[in-house]
Amino acid sequence: MRTPIIAGNWKMNKNPQETQEFLEAIKGKLPESGVEAIIGAPAIDLNALTWFSKDEPLKTAAENCYFEDAGAFTGETSPKALSDMGIDYVIIGHSERRQYFGETDEDINKKAHAILKNNMLPIICCGETLEQREAGKAEDWVTGQIEAAVKGISADDLAKSVIAYEPIWAIGTGKTATADQAQEMVHVIREKIASLYDAATADKVRILYGGSVKPANVKELMSKEDIDGGLVGGASMDPESFLALANFNK
Ligand code: 13P
Repeated sequence: MRTPIIAGNWKMNKNPQETQEFLEAIKGKLPESGVEAIIGAPAIDLNALTWFSKDEPLKTAAENCYFEDAGAFTGETSPKALSDMGIDYVIIGHSERRQYFGETDEDINKKAHAILKNNMLPIICCGETLEQREAGKAEDWVTGQIEAAVKGISADDLAKSVIAYEPIWAIGTGKTATADQAQEMVHVIREKIASLYDAATADKVRILYGGSVKPANVKELMSKEDIDGGLVGGASMDPESFLALANFNK
């Protein structure tokens, strides 16, 4: 059984004070079991999240890290430091990082290895543009991104990791992929993992859908066989909305 995940991705939003206010609002209200609630936040907000998560059923995610543990890399965030402070996950390969910051498949693979080496888990993002979808190239593109990202990762490590399928045309646009479209691609990704590894690993890895997930559509998306959760931008920023998502199965 794969435990469902509701993961927020705040992107470059909220300062430490706003983070504190959000946490006060959700205190004592997250489900104790049956779902893993995660917040991915800017590095400057992570300290507040890790303190909160000591007493509350919340897991924490950084939105990026570098692939070296330490050194002369001005402005980067060390995966070892994230791990030392108690961070659980790191989001890597988000389309915004690929598009605006030139993150390559090779970088993403190196980051995945660094994250796992430091006892955290990667949330590996993939997804196609509208042009690629309309040209019938989405499946090849997405499975190619996944194959590159997981290169050299052991089956045991991959089974614990998380993949997030986020079609770029559905991010922040209000245009959600239909639950069937999301299921179809998530299934293709699971088949790809089965062919790269084996059926048991494919059965264990959790694959999320992201792109305009909100309380109104989360139930339908989660009802699909291969979809194990959501990676949520806009609708994760408001405490009530995040709680509604985390309690989707109530
Ligand atoms: P939205 O939920 O705002 O569409 O963002 C999705 C996303 O990019 C999460 O990583």
